[in-house]
Amino acid sequence: MAQNASVIINADQGEHQISRHIYGHFAEHLGRCIYGGFYVGADNQAIPHTDGVRNDIIQALKDLKVPNLRWPGGCFADTYHWKDGVGPQSERPTIVNRWWGGATEDNSFGTHNFLNLCEVLGAEPYLSANVGSGTVQEVIDWVQYTNHDGVSPMADWRRANGREKPWAVKYWGVGNETWGCGGNMTAEYYANIYRQYATFMPGWSGSAKIERIASGASGNDYHWTETLMKNVPHQLMEAVALHHYSVLDWSEKGPDVGFSEAQYFKTMEESLKMEEFVTRHSTIMDKYDPEKKVALFVDEWGGWYDGDADKGVLYQQNTMRDAMIAGAVLNIFNNHAERVKMANIAQAVNVLQAVILTDEEKMILTPTYHVMKLYNVHQDATLLPLSIDTPDYELDGKKLPALSVSASRDDQGVMHISLVNIDAKKAHSTEVKIHGDEAKTVRGSILSSASLQDHNTFDNPDKITPKDFKDFKVKDGILTVSLPPFSVVVLEVK
Ligand code: AHR
Repeated sequence: MAQNASVIINADQGEHQISRHIYGHFAEHLGRCIYGGFYVGADNQAIPHTDGVRNDIIQALKDLKVPNLRWPGGCFADTYHWKDGVGPQSERPTIVNRWWGGATEDNSFGTHNFLNLCEVLGAEPYLSANVGSGTVQEVIDWVQYTNHDGVSPMADWRRANGREKPWAVKYWGVGNETWGCGGNMTAEYYANIYRQYATFMPGWSGSAKIERIASGASGNDYHWTETLMKNVPHQLMEAVALHHYSVLDWSEKGPDVGFSEAQYFKTMEESLKMEEFVTRHSTIMDKYDPEKKVALFVDEWGGWYDGDADKGVLYQQNTMRDAMIAGAVLNIFNNHAERVKMANIAQAVNVLQAVILTDEEKMILTPTYHVMKLYNVHQDATLLPLSIDTPDYELDGKKLPALSVSASRDDQGVMHISLVNIDAKKAHSTEVKIHGDEAKTVRGSILSSASLQDHNTFDNPDKITPKDFKDFKVKDGILTVSLPPFSVVVLEVK
């Protein structure tokens, strides 16, 4: 195959760390994410579990090196009253999940369950606090309950409920989508509300510092980010969020499987908009915060289709299309590591672009899971600057860049390069020049399949798994890599 793309990596110029938190996840009380997903109940005899959380899910997420988990929403968070989910089960009231199908939940999965799960996973918890229908006092109490080491009403209540040591929760969202389901606020109004909440949240964690995350813009709402950056004193805000889903059309999102190539193209077009959104929101942040003290957290992202409602609210299959979204968008986040310090794919189990799907006692790992696992070599590694000259992926006269790349060097000095070819029909061969280093030993893994529609099923769980990749050569220090259509390749270069 003739070489038609080129990449130059400056292997000796890395400056910024790729935060492992870019590889974060999200678990909302929605459909079968928590109940019937993560949580099968402490008395379940059929499915092996630890305090009600499935052991197979725990193991899969540990293998993925999940760095953080956001909970309890999403839209649900602004209806959630945490005190209803602690203490004796017999005294817990129910809650109607008014955003997601109106299910009545028994509050059996609460703060202790979630924070203990994060401890088992070795993941940082990210609690999303209720601003839309809660109170400042409720949030103060939650911080005190989870983080205070001394004697206080909330810390004592935590101890009475069986937990001596605080969990020291670092990440705190101050409302979610406050422009929509979190209260339909204007940016100006929310900026004031945010200031009020953020004022009272610190002071309960000893010397540990919490990070407060302002509910952020959707997609290209630059006014939202500008208003927060301008109106909120930066010592009150450690991060601003951003949400962007890859959606064809909110009124008709298209099928999860059986989509046309035109629908695939549009999904990728929407996914690649992340580059523009992250760049433009960062530029606004640079204006008000040139020292980059406030981070950008993309705390919801992923593909959203008309899935299979019979299997749960917002349940959808996960095909090679989703692998393309994951590979391309994670490359974008890596390359913006200087400002993007966290991202949370929506969602971990049985909802939207899930890494795990379950059916009763069965569990499968999706193509998105495999991409995230291949990419976890970038966690906390040093981003290497690069430039790329890519051919286009063309359909019906429209064009998208076919290839995307990011590269990093880990603390052992090993370089990793992740390359994605989103072209549905054409393979592309790319030359990779590495300046400031030499490719002596190269090993690769690939995720690819015969059809874009391919996916793992409960009957065929390993249809799509990473394989060894050998379609590269090294000559005179230059690496030439052949990327099949719709494939993700990760190379280890020593
Ligand atoms: O992830 C599903 C929903 O999408 C979340 O609850 C909300 O924040 C977003 O609109």
